[in-house]
Amino acid sequence: MIRTILTYPSPELKKKSAPVTIITDSVRELVRDMAESMYAAPGVGLAAPQLGVHQRVIIIDISGKNEPPDLIVAINPTIIHADGEAYEEEGCLSVPDYAANVKRHARVIVKALDLEGAERTWKAEDLLAIAFQHEIDHLDGVLFVDHLSMLKRELFQRKVRKAAEEKR
Ligand code: NI
Repeated sequence: MIRTILTYPSPELKKKSAPVTIITDSVRELVRDMAESMYAAPGVGLAAPQLGVHQRVIIIDISGKNEPPDLIVAINPTIIHADGEAYEEEGCLSVPDYAANVKRHARVIVKALDLEGAERTWKAEDLLAIAFQHEIDHLDGVLFVDHLSMLKRELFQRKVRKAAEEKR
């Protein structure tokens, strides 16, 4: 089922998510809904809090094929190693119509559980490394715009306010 993706400045996006303790049917259903919602958007990544569910679950698919075979499901993901520097343009399904360059690590090693509860490790670089960092940030209530310089953030917030006024 496609669920509504919350958008900035929803306070739900600022909350910290809790670890998943057992992978129940509701977690499996959540992941299915996340995948459907992400592919429909379309997007390359989604975190559970973007659907208003504050559990540490992220999905990523950078293949561009919009099909489940390349879907990464990471439950309780943690970055166990990070190095290098990247500065690429990012967007977010929760921040529509806005993109900006963000400073990230170029390479990360991520540990997480998969949907079967097995421990998985991903060695990621480039776009995948950025996607992991972006999605894991969501679990801590952090959006990519939170990484921008003060000036850029002010410009972004001005743009959001203006768009909201225009809608009225
Ligand atoms: Ni995002």
